[in-house]
Amino acid sequence: MYIPIPLLRPQPDASLSLAAIPAMLLARLLTLLPFFTLPLPITSLSLAGPRQASVDSFVASESSIALAGVLANIGPDGAKCEGAASGVVLASPSTTSPDYDYEWIRDASLVNKLLIDRYTQGRDGSLQGTIESWISSMAIIQQVPNPSGNVSTGGLGEPKFNPDMTAFTGAWGRPQRDGPALRAIAMMTYASYKLGQGNTSYVQDVLWPSISLDLGYVAQNWNQTGFDLWEELDGSSFFTILSQFRALHQAAPFASQYEDSGTASAWAEQAGNILCFLQSFWDSSASYALANINLASTRSGLDANTVLASIHAFDPEAGCDAATFQPCSDKALANHKAVVDSFRGLYGLNSQYGPDQAVAIGRYQEDVYYNGNPWYLATLAAAEQLYASLYTWASQSSLTVTATSEPFFAQFLSSVAPGTYSASTSEYATITAGAKSMADGFVAIVQQYIGPAGGLSEQFDKSSGAPTSAVDLTWSYASFLTMADARAGLVPASWGASSATVPTGTCQPGPQPPMVQLTFVEDAKTTYGQNVFLTGSISQLSDWSTTDAVALSSASYPDWQVTVSVPAGATFQYKFIKVENGEVTWESDPNREYTAPSSGSATVNDTWR
Ligand SMILES: *[C@@H]1O[C@H](CO)[C@@H](O)[C@H](O)[C@H]1NC(C)=O
Ligand SMILES: *[C@@H]1O[C@H](CO)[C@@H](O)[C@H](O)[C@H]1NC(C)=O
Ligand SMILES: *[C@@H]1O[C@H](CO)[C@@H](O)[C@H](O)[C@H]1NC(C)=O
Ligand SMILES: *[C@@H]1O[C@H](CO)[C@@H](O)[C@H](O)[C@H]1NC(C)=O
Repeated sequence: MYIPIPLLRPQPDASLSLAAIPAMLLARLLTLLPFFTLPLPITSLSLAGPRQASVDSFVASESSIALAGVLANIGPDGAKCEGAASGVVLASPSTTSPDYDYEWIRDASLVNKLLIDRYTQGRDGSLQGTIESWISSMAIIQQVPNPSGNVSTGGLGEPKFNPDMTAFTGAWGRPQRDGPALRAIAMMTYASYKLGQGNTSYVQDVLWPSISLDLGYVAQNWNQTGFDLWEELDGSSFFTILSQFRALHQAAPFASQYEDSGTASAWAEQAGNILCFLQSFWDSSASYALANINLASTRSGLDANTVLASIHAFDPEAGCDAATFQPCSDKALANHKAVVDSFRGLYGLNSQYGPDQAVAIGRYQEDVYYNGNPWYLATLAAAEQLYASLYTWASQSSLTVTATSEPFFAQFLSSVAPGTYSASTSEYATITAGAKSMADGFVAIVQQYIGPAGGLSEQFDKSSGAPTSAVDLTWSYASFLTMADARAGLVPASWGASSATVPTGTCQPGPQPPMVQLTFVEDAKTTYGQNVFLTGSISQLSDWSTTDAVALSSASYPDWQVTVSVPAGATFQYKFIKVENGEVTWESDPNREYTAPSSGSATVNDTWR
């Protein structure tokens, strides 16, 4: 039986009252009630509870639940993580379907960055022990040999460990190179605070040895591909690359003090190279940042990856800088709209929201994990980017609309034109009110579909909105708290983003895509003095050049052969040519086309035509 539940749900910023439900619909609903089998529709109709509260009071009440939710998953004393070693942050108490009974370096680092921000801003003195236990546990985990290597041979890129800090040895998407960067960022934030307190010994003896290992790993390995934050794609991930840039850039003042000058300058140079490479993710025709490059993927590239990257690179003193993808930069705002819009038609429950309203956000459109649902942390990240933008606009008393960001701003003021609008203009008032309302809309969606007792699992069902996948996801709770902080204007400390400059000229080579070997065999009869070459639409096939074309060997005449490395999964066109004394004879049309396998090698057999 199909019950049109979404029609009966409140809009994000309207609280549900009996008056809001047309009487006929209510009568019809009441007749259907006996047939409801899912608990959810009834919950959504209950007239008491958090869903009736305004976003303000929801954020206030859920914040304490979220902090308790984070702490419950941290060993050794957390209420939901029995057996976890001291300082270990479990991803979730869920041990089956899915089994998240591990510490992921990424999740734990993001969580601790949040705790460090709250503690160092004097907002919660009780967190010191938790933070320092994590720091101690990380010094141990860094030294644990694991399937990615040992501490000096790549082991720092291992994504997850067992709750007792031993290595996880099963098959996994490894390495994941964002972990060391995020861990260094959290620890450097704590180091700045400790130095401010005059506690140089803790920084020098405890923090810096761990930070230095991670930064060394980033500087040495950023130019290789690895698995993305969703652990699925081996390539170059925007989230990873921006995190790596931030880590090495934030390191500069420390490195000059704690490292030799050669290391410090090498890190600074790599920071520049990474920032240069980061710019290549921008798709200027589509006006969004591709989430992953250097891989054979047919995805659109629209992904909450890039929104998460922006909020975790937020620097409240960097204005709306686009090179570092600040939340209010024109590129990050255009990207926000593109990512949000990509989810509008994707989920059944999003059909209840208007075209410029917030919707439930997942990871990416093509997601099939648990059938592909919205995630709380992705929906909250979409809110947080807007709150961070509102903070920066307020602090600079203006906002700037460019051709790139115009479609984003037009959501709130359709007549808006590029220009700078000071805080005293009506345009500024309308746009900021609209952005605030959209941001609150994302939070209201989380409020609407939150679990029992304010629990935040990983996902909520794309049709019914029922919480699904892992319960009590630590990162979901942390994302609620960083959202709430941004909403309240409690922003993290600057990491020096305003001094970042993109090096001029050509970027140093970044990570290279994985390659596969293709052996081309062309059956071609030739006359004496004639040779066969291969040319085609990719650089490995000389970009259709006839003078730099790839030579084939006649050792197995009349089979002419050559083996070429091409990017895994690449689709390209090509033709063979015969060349004699510079005179080129082409094969007849059409161009040949081939798609390389995603791994391994292949032989391509053709006959001259
Ligand atoms: C790491 O592995 C390399 C290569 O196997 C070895 O030479 C080195 O001693 C190991 N380092 C540690 C700290 O175990
Ligand atoms: C420095 O910080 C550490 C860790 O919090 C603490 O144990 C130590 O007493 C502090 N030292 C000084 C001199 O404040
Ligand atoms: C990556 O950069 C490091 C440091 O410059 C260099 O030693 C290494 O050879 C590079 N690796 C690749 C695969 O380019
Ligand atoms: C090309 O020929 C080789 C050797 O005869 C064979 O193994 C391979 O499968 C052929 N490839 C294709 C694409 O037909």
